[in-house]
Amino acid sequence: MKDLFHGEFVRLTAEDPDVRAKIEVHWQRDSEYRRLLDSEPAMVVSEKWLKDWFEKRNEEGFSPNRYVFSIRTLVEEKLIGFFSLWVDLIHSEAWVGIGIGEREFWGKGYGTDMMKLCLRYAFTELNVHRVSLGLHSYNPRALKSYEKAGFQLEGCTRKDTLREGKRTDGFWMGILREEWLAMQNGAKP
Ligand SMILES: CC(C)(COP(=O)(O)OP(=O)(O)OC[C@H]1O[C@@H](n2cnc3c(N)ncnc32)[C@H](O)[C@@H]1OP(=O)(O)O)[C@@H](O)C(=O)NCCC(=O)NCCS
Repeated sequence: MKDLFHGEFVRLTAEDPDVRAKIEVHWQRDSEYRRLLDSEPAMVVSEKWLKDWFEKRNEEGFSPNRYVFSIRTLVEEKLIGFFSLWVDLIHSEAWVGIGIGEREFWGKGYGTDMMKLCLRYAFTELNVHRVSLGLHSYNPRALKSYEKAGFQLEGCTRKDTLREGKRTDGFWMGILREEWLAMQNGAKP
């Protein structure tokens, strides 16, 4: 069987509230990272607030709907990011959230490796039929990375975001189980 937790450059690790909060507090202070990540207003939060938040999530325990991993590099063992999968059990669909908070690791293949692990986990362990995600149209690096992992651009919500006085579109992407399986057999994304 394939190793679910190790990729070419990164491995999936458990989320330790102490460790994650210490690093996440720096990521949250990077407003560009925050604005690439989602649509919520960028906000600075304290290390304690983050630790409490991660602890509360851990205390909620295992949920068949939510899978969260912290990501470390294979070489330096450095914590660089995370991904989360939220599973709709009725329709067998998973939604992904992904981010590399350590910006010196952007554009070097780590994110695509993370997404490949995320898809392998979603399709072979969670047995979903499709994986979906949303992104801002002003995030071309993410778009390219997701396409390399096998996602297709499926739709656009026009001018759904207002930042710095500019309205921009939201993009929606997805990959089906059969498309992912074809890629495992050598099909190009
Ligand atoms: C999105 C993210 C996970 C992608 O991971 P990554 O490691 O940076 O991406 P990769 O290096 O694997 O792939 C990026 C690709 O886009 C290309 N690229 C980089 N900057 C680009 C730009 N401005 N325009 C177009 N393409 C770009 C890279 O060259 C690479 O393609 P290549 O391998 O063919 O050369 C990561 O950049 C990140 O977390 N960014 C901050 C938070 C974020 O945007 N989260 C996603 C929210 S939807």
